[in-house]
Amino acid sequence: MTDQELIAHAAAMRSRAVAPYSHYQVGAALLGSNGKVYGGCNIEAAAYSVTLCAERAALACAVADGCTSFTRLAVIASGEGLCTPCGMCRQMLFEFAPELTVLCCYADQRSQAIPIAELLPFGFGGDRLPG
Ligand code: THU
Repeated sequence: MTDQELIAHAAAMRSRAVAPYSHYQVGAALLGSNGKVYGGCNIEAAAYSVTLCAERAALACAVADGCTSFTRLAVIASGEGLCTPCGMCRQMLFEFAPELTVLCCYADQRSQAIPIAELLPFGFGGDRLPG
């Protein structure tokens, strides 16, 4: 799976976004260590805070499929500028995959590869908790 293929998958997911409030469509494609790609899109609700980000939607699909280890993520949005995961998504991705490479994309599929540990410096992980 090349970076460009993963990004194309994320772009296809973006077209499934349910974003009637922000009009900001986001797509994500998460590559599992098992070689499978899990897609997600953002899903907004009228009760705004219930909204689910594309990255965590992809992660939920993967976990439901029995995959909990990941190598790369592509994330792409409809707006201008580089699409980078929000703080909540950074935390959740870091907990599952502290070595993850995040392909942050512009709307036209140009990308910048950024390690999750760089997006979330001094990240908090489960290894800090007792027992
Ligand atoms: N959003 C994502 O899907 N991922 C992010 O990392 C940032 C934000 C979504 C949530 C909401 O539906 C819209 O973008 C605007 O915040």
